[in-house]
Amino acid sequence: MDNFNLENIKRDFERELNQAQSEKDLFELKGKYIGKKRGIISELLEKIPSLPQEERKTFGKEINILKNYLEKKISESFENIEKMKSSLPKMDLTLPGRNVFSGKVHPLSQIKEEIEDIFVSMGYTIATGPEIEDTYHNFEALNTPEDHPSRDIQDTFYLDVENLLLRTQTSPVQVRSMEKKRPPIKLIAPGRVFRRDDDVSHSPMFFQVEGLVVDENITMADLKGTLLDFYRKLFRKDVSIRFRASYFPFTEPSAETDLSCVICNGSGCNVCKRTGWLEVGGCGMVDPKVFEFVGIDPEKYSGFAFGLGIDRITMIKYGIDNIKYFLENDIRFLEQF
Ligand code: DAH
Repeated sequence: MDNFNLENIKRDFERELNQAQSEKDLFELKGKYIGKKRGIISELLEKIPSLPQEERKTFGKEINILKNYLEKKISESFENIEKMKSSLPKMDLTLPGRNVFSGKVHPLSQIKEEIEDIFVSMGYTIATGPEIEDTYHNFEALNTPEDHPSRDIQDTFYLDVENLLLRTQTSPVQVRSMEKKRPPIKLIAPGRVFRRDDDVSHSPMFFQVEGLVVDENITMADLKGTLLDFYRKLFRKDVSIRFRASYFPFTEPSAETDLSCVICNGSGCNVCKRTGWLEVGGCGMVDPKVFEFVGIDPEKYSGFAFGLGIDRITMIKYGIDNIKYFLENDIRFLEQF
């Protein structure tokens, strides 16, 4: 045995210590070098008695120095591992995982976005207007005289400020858009509207989409073709529509649009009350008086307009029987869409 051998042992140890990755590796290293039974150091110590007398002392001393060095290095490494472990957050890996719920787009917003996509693909732009409106845009410019029932305090939420109200319809966006833009006009205006109404199919706040097309030579056939095309795209079905004569102050002639029942395809069911038809919205040709309010020449231009309820359409599409579900935010309802 000579010094050279001890240096080699030290170098091997240092290399192996560097490679050690885990506590288990360290235990193995400890056993290999300073283990009581078969450790390299123990084996060296056992060899001392067989050495010549004069070498025993120095050799023994050097082995002890190496042994102390190895012990120190190994315990330092154990300490480092302990430090690392205590800086990690405590985790119980046996706990069952938590479910992650993903958020969803509200069914009314989904249908609103679908409606927007369909009309945008047909070349329409999307217009908006204020939810707090004035009586001029909500009524007067829409040819709704002061004694008209829809102006009644029963239907309308008036604000304390004179001439201001919560808009009862999206139709004022027609007026605001025509004030700003000359024909050709081709727009839809989705948004919230407010009325003093409250039952299973009416809520004080609900959503409408207004449609307006103004250009030369616009006819009622354009209106009917547009709505038919729209409903076929929305319901992804070969539905039919029919017009029933009606009255709105801002259209002449006016019509209610009926859609062949998307549940029973017209043969009669509970949803369409056995009529085979579903009422889906009002429409008509823009009344020349409205054009006069916004300064568009009714001799040159004509237009059609329509209004539909997003809530009503969503209820029909998904078979929902109470409008209140949309506002309750019950997760059991919302997660179905
Ligand atoms: N604004 C009407 C309502 O809320 C719906 C409507 C009917 C809109 C006919 C229109 C229309 O644009 O032409 O009851």
